[in-house]
Amino acid sequence: AMAEKAGFKHFMLKEIYEQPQAILNTFRGRLDPETGQVKIPEIILSPEEIKSLNKICILACGTSYHAGLVGKYLFERLVRLPVEVELGSEFRYRDFLIDENTLVIPISQSGETADTLASLRRAREAGARAVAICNVLGSTITRESDGTIYTHAGPEIGVASTKAFTSQLTALLLLVLYFGEIRGTLSEKERKRIAKALLKVPYQLEKLIEKLHPDIKELSYQYQKKRHFLYLGRNILFPIALEGALKLKEISYIHAEGYAAGEMKHGPIALIDEEMPVVALAPQNHHVYEKMISNIEEVRSRKGNIFSLGTEGDGTLKRVSQHVLELPACDWEVSPIIYTVPLQLLAYEVAVRRGCDVDQPRNLAKSVTVE
Ligand code: G6P
Repeated sequence: AMAEKAGFKHFMLKEIYEQPQAILNTFRGRLDPETGQVKIPEIILSPEEIKSLNKICILACGTSYHAGLVGKYLFERLVRLPVEVELGSEFRYRDFLIDENTLVIPISQSGETADTLASLRRAREAGARAVAICNVLGSTITRESDGTIYTHAGPEIGVASTKAFTSQLTALLLLVLYFGEIRGTLSEKERKRIAKALLKVPYQLEKLIEKLHPDIKELSYQYQKKRHFLYLGRNILFPIALEGALKLKEISYIHAEGYAAGEMKHGPIALIDEEMPVVALAPQNHHVYEKMISNIEEVRSRKGNIFSLGTEGDGTLKRVSQHVLELPACDWEVSPIIYTVPLQLLAYEVAVRRGCDVDQPRNLAKSVTVE
C-alpha cells in the first residue's frame, strides 16, 4: 500500500503534492504559451454557438460546486456572461429557466454523482447544450454531455477532493480564455497576462508546498484541539473559504464554516472569542484587500485568533494576525488555486494530529451515486 502511495502516508497527501503536475496536465496541449490562445475542440460548440449563448448554468455537488462558484467570478468578469451555479440536489427539483442558448456545465470529478447527473438530464430536456468538466474518462456525465473538458488530473483516491478541484479551476480558466477570445471580451494583452499567470502556477505551487508544509505541520499542533473554525474570504476567494472549511470538517471532524467576510457582521461575529481560529484569505493585490483587513481588525478587537493567508512581505497583515502564511504574489484569476493548497495542507495536518482516517473519513463516500 505504501508503494501505491509513492512513499506518502496517505493518498490525500500524495494528491496534494501531485497538484503542480495535475494542473500542468490540464492545460498542456491546450494553452499556447506564446499567444495565450486556447484550443479545446472537444467541447464541440462552434464559435457561432458560443457567441449566441446568453447564460451559463453550472451544476455540481461538494467540492466541485465550490469550483463552480469560482467559475462564476471568472466568467462574469472576463466573458461578461451571467452565470448561475447550482447544487445538483437543488437544481433537479427546481423550476429553473433554461433554453437553447443556455450552456450547462456539469462539474464532477467522478462523472457519476447522482444529483449532478439528474440535473444535467433535466437541463438537456429543456434544450440546453452541455459541456462537462470531468476527471473520469467515459463516465456517465461525460457520455450525457455534448462535449467534455477532461481535467487529466489522474486517479483521485482520497475521499476529500484535492487535485481534482485545482484541475477543475484550471479547466474553467481555459474555458474562460477560449470564450473570452471568441466573444471578444478579452483583449490579446489580457489573455496573454492570464495565460502567463497560469503557466507559472505549477512552479509556484511546488515552491509553496516545499516552503509552507513544514510550517503548517508545526502550526497544526496548536490548532488540533480547537472545536470550531471560521474561514473568511471575499470575492473570488469566498468560494475558497467555503472549500477550506469543507476540507477541515470532512477529514478532521472539526466544525468549520466558510463565510463571505462582509457577512460576518450578520451572524458569525457573535461567535468570535479567543478560542475559535479565524482563517482569513487576504491577498494584497485584490481590490477587496482593504475590506479584508477591516474584517480582520473587527475580529481582532474581539480578541479573535487570526490565522491569515496573504502576500509575501505584507507587513500590515503580519501586524494584525497571530499567524501568517506568506504566499507568492499572483494574479486574481489564479489566486483561488494558490490559496487552496495551504488550506488542504492545514486540514490534512490537523486531521493527522487528531488521529483521523484521512483517506476514508467516516460517513463519506468518494462518489455518491445514489440520492
Ligand atoms: C463526494 C466526495 C466529494 C466530492 C463530491 C462531488 O461528496 O466525497 O469529495 O466533491 O462527492 O463529487 P464529484 O465526483 O461529482 O465531483
